Formats: sequence, structure tokens, C-alpha cells
Amino acid sequence: MSKIEDEHLIPTYQKFPIKIVRGAGALVFDDKGGAYVDLSGGYGVAIIGHANPFVAKALADQSHELITCHGSLYNDAREAYLSELVKVLPQGLDHIYFCNSGAEANEAALKFARKYTGRKEILAFTGSFHGKTYGALSATWNQKYRKPFEPLLEGVRFSPFGNLERAREAITDATAAIIVEPIQGESGIHIPPDNFLPGLRDLADSNGSVLVFDEVQSGFGRTGKMWACENWNVKPDILTASKGVAGGVPFGFTAVTSSISSSLKPGEQTSTFGGNALSCAAALAALKYLQSEQLLARALENGEYFRHKLESIILAKYPSLVREVRGKGLMLAVELRIPVKDVINLGFEHHLILLYAGLNVLRFLPPLVITKNQIDNVVLSLDSILTHLETNLRPTIEAKLEAGA
Ligand SMILES: Cc1ncc(COP(=O)(O)O)c(C=O)c1O
Repeated sequence: MSKIEDEHLIPTYQKFPIKIVRGAGALVFDDKGGAYVDLSGGYGVAIIGHANPFVAKALADQSHELITCHGSLYNDAREAYLSELVKVLPQGLDHIYFCNSGAEANEAALKFARKYTGRKEILAFTGSFHGKTYGALSATWNQKYRKPFEPLLEGVRFSPFGNLERAREAITDATAAIIVEPIQGESGIHIPPDNFLPGLRDLADSNGSVLVFDEVQSGFGRTGKMWACENWNVKPDILTASKGVAGGVPFGFTAVTSSISSSLKPGEQTSTFGGNALSCAAALAALKYLQSEQLLARALENGEYFRHKLESIILAKYPSLVREVRGKGLMLAVELRIPVKDVINLGFEHHLILLYAGLNVLRFLPPLVITKNQIDNVVLSLDSILTHLETNLRPTIEAKLEAGA
């Protein structure tokens, strides 16, 4: 697909055989003009749609004025974005550190929690994903990402996601932070039981630890609320976000309470590009678009519609291939009984960009601007992909059933 990329990129990305040159809304286009529905949403980034024209205009306008402005100087674009951002953050989280990615936002969160509490340990959860830089990786569960790069940060413990009792047992006097995704994304869209996040809030309070919600994947309207934690009415002490907040421009932030902010001194956490004028202009346009187009309501409505179709067609018709449909808003998953790669590969033939989570989960993080018509076509395509796979796999499934597996 690209000889140059294959020859010259370090091969740390799994590659699919398609070259994307353009995007619009929920669609991306390959170099031959073929249109694909992007159900991966660029791994959840294209929340307000690909090549959003309002973000494009904000970028063009800002780039003629000023592109970069270090955080040590005041800047009008940063000021304009900050004043709108704090209005949509959970109340009290009105001190912000700007950076460029999800992992960086979590690095900062872990540093801030240590500095504020004067403690060293971190409590994270099984199935967690917080990024691949050393601090974020240390709080990430998957051995595949961790093992080759050890030793990681000391003092990180993992407790089973969703199990409050076990979290209570795992927390210690030395726990600086409890870090958790309100809904786990990378490990397959796992929604915790209703007592979990409120229980972690109480636990953090009684133990003097900082509660960090990683909203990098679940935030910015994805679940039909601005932040997924609002589904349980729980506020963290630190909230991290990235992915779609600047309409696809690299950007992230760590929002903290004023007392955590006061524990930090100049120089203790900075980033050359953090809060640069160009990304702030894009982020302001993205936020305004999300609000003016009522995309939170759309995530709920289209999420319900998509989920219902997945349940009534995909789950109901293919019980031998599909185990479960789950999720909130437009953060959905179909857990399969077969390897997800077979479905993803056939997806390209049906002009779908599909996303995996682990070996057997199809994850859906489409742009919130996806239309019902596009969802209908996606489900039709999935239907025919599964018919094809069922026909091909029938002999294996029957043999397994006969063997009592
Ligand atoms: C919940 C969560 N946290 C952190 C990250 C890391 O973000 P980035 O890849 O921008 O470093 C991701 C990325 O998928 C994520 O889903």
C-alpha cells in the first residue's frame, strides 16, 4: 500500500492494506476514491467528524495570526479556549495543564497526584489502558505492552476492574492515586457496576488519595454525556482528556482542583507545544461544534439506534458467532466467539473501517455525526460478513458442538 512507509517506518503499528487520503464526516476515502464508513473514528479521535470544516477554518485563520506560543507567554487563543473549557468540566476542576496526547495527560496526572499527596503508590485496574509512555504504561494492564520495556514505575498495583471490595483491600496509606477509565475502552468497552465509581470516590476520600478519571476515550460526548463519569454523577480530583477534543489536532489536557494545582511550582511540568495557539483554536472550534450541533444528544440517539440494530440483527441472528453487545452512547462493542481479525479483514471489502479490542471484540467509536442511514448500511454489511463467516465456519462449529465444547 505504501512501499515507502513499509521501508522506512519503525514497524510498531499493525498495518491494514488501505491508503486514506481524505475524510468527511463519518467517511474516509482511499487513494482510488473509494468511500469507507470509519467505525474506528481514527481510534476515537474523529468525534466531530473527519476534516470538520469549522475546525479547518479555525486552523486556517489562526495559522495566519500565530501558530506557536509557549506557555510562558500569555496568548489570546489559549485564553479564549480556557474560558469555554472550564464551563464544561466537572465543577471544581478548573485548573488545567495542556499537552499533546492522552499518555502525556496521564503522565501529568500521576506526577500531580504524587506531588500533591507526597505518596508514591498508584492503584490501577485489570484491563486498563492509559498510554505507552513510561508512567502511563506502568498503570496499563496488558503484559504485551509492558513486558518488553520493564522495569516500569515502582509501586503500581492492579485490582480487578469493577470490584470495589478488592479495591478497598488493595489501597494503602501510600496510595497517591487511583487511576481508572470510567468505561474501559481498549480492553473491550467494559462498563463498571453502578457502585464502582461512587465507591472509588468514597475510598479515595477516606484514604486521602487522589481519584483520577482517564476520559481520553470515554470523554467529550462519546457516551452521550460530556464526560462518561457524569453517567454515575461522580467527580474525580483529576480528569484527563485527549483524542477528539481538538477535532483531530494533537492535543490533551489534565484538569485538576485548585488545591492540587497549588501544590505545583513553575517548571515542575511543562511541554513545549502544550496549549499552543493552533491547537487551542482548533479545540475551541471543536467544542463549539459539539455544542451547537447537539452532538451529545446525537450520540445518545444514534447509539441507541445502533445498539438496537446490533442486538436485534447481529446478536439475534448469529448466536454461534456473537456473544454480547454492550456499551453506552457511541462507545459500543460486539463480543465475538470467533477471531475479530476475520471480520475486520472482510470489513474492508464492504467499505468499513472496523476496530478491534483484544482478540475477539469489535469496538465501535464512530464519529458522533454518523447518520442513521450509514448505521443501516453498516449493519447490513456486518450481516453479510457474518453470513459468509458462518457458512465457512459451520463445519468447525458443528464439530465443536458434537465434541461438547
Ligand atoms: C483511555 C485511554 N487513555 C490513554 C490513551 C493514550 O492516548 P495517546 O495514544 O494519545 O497517548 C488512550 C489511547 O487509546 C486511551 O484510550
